[in-house]
Amino acid sequence: MADQVEEKRRIKTVKDLAGVGQAVLSKLTEAGYSSLEAIAVASPQDLSTAAGIPLTTAQRIIKEARDALDIRFKTALEIEQERASVKKITTSSQALDGLLGGGIETRTMTELFGEFGSGKTQICHQISVNVQLPPEKGGLAGKALYIDTEGTFRTERIRAMASALGLDPKEALSNIMSIRAINTDHQIAIVEELQDLIAKDDRIKLVVVDSVTSHFRAEYSGRENLAARQQKLNRHLHQLVRLAEIYDLAVVVTNQVMARPDMFYGDPTVAVGGHTLYHVPGIRVQIKKSRGNRRIARMVDAPHLPEGEVVFSITNVGIRDAEE
Ligand code: GTP
Ligand code: MG
Repeated sequence: MADQVEEKRRIKTVKDLAGVGQAVLSKLTEAGYSSLEAIAVASPQDLSTAAGIPLTTAQRIIKEARDALDIRFKTALEIEQERASVKKITTSSQALDGLLGGGIETRTMTELFGEFGSGKTQICHQISVNVQLPPEKGGLAGKALYIDTEGTFRTERIRAMASALGLDPKEALSNIMSIRAINTDHQIAIVEELQDLIAKDDRIKLVVVDSVTSHFRAEYSGRENLAARQQKLNRHLHQLVRLAEIYDLAVVVTNQVMARPDMFYGDPTVAVGGHTLYHVPGIRVQIKKSRGNRRIARMVDAPHLPEGEVVFSITNVGIRDAEE
């Protein structure tokens, strides 16, 4: 059983499949079989023809891809056990944790969407600190990886939030690795390379992409680019989801949307993939501005959580419950 898990973790991309050398890899890629998902759902005949490999080899790599992605019938009991092993990271607001069913979940991608200044980046900072807390304080004694696409990552905020929780600020900073992504290709490449980093350091329990959509929106503006943008973004998001599932970590992405989408109806640059990334599995939370430092979080079509709204606040020391 442990060996099987090891084996599954070893296979992360197409090139990890046994018998896929450089030549076969380029044939597969050319034919559009560039991901494990694509291979997992291919027919052996098609794959064999496309890659010029024997049918038996095609059958074997399809099976390997399915095993790696854990695509198989499971008993409901297994599913229940998997769900029970999901861990949670506190947001430092009991109300917000309550909305999330206890906190930000591992094995899941959580999308925070909302207008500018709604607090998406502040929440990302807070959980990058909180993931470091011991489990009894709502953390995972872990580390965070922060992919910053807008240049809004601030060490001062990390220091303030860490001190307030009794963590050594310097240590808190050293447990967060941040990288600036300069464009979509760079952002995608970073996520592709993350697998190696995460495989080497099992303390990494949180990956943040703030914002996941801004480069896509800037580079693929205009209606004529919408389909290409969507396809590229989808692949990127699915890769993030898979990272969360394979390594049992939390992935949190942000997505800025207009406060009043109705005003911009029909403009494809307003939001990528509609107003939320609804086509990708995960949890979606809308953050709205309220009076002063108050914010409203709303759960949107969560698979296993009730819909609802809560109020929290953004303070000098981070995310907290709103005072009455
Ligand atoms: P965009 O990235 O522009 O879409 O916005 P966002 O949703 O990421 O907003 P962000 O998390 O940057 O929230 C900004 C808000 O957080 C500001 O309007 C402030 O109200 C609040 N904020 C940021 N830093 C501090 C701070 O040090 N103290 C307090 N009290 N509030 C802060
Ligand atoms: Mg932000």
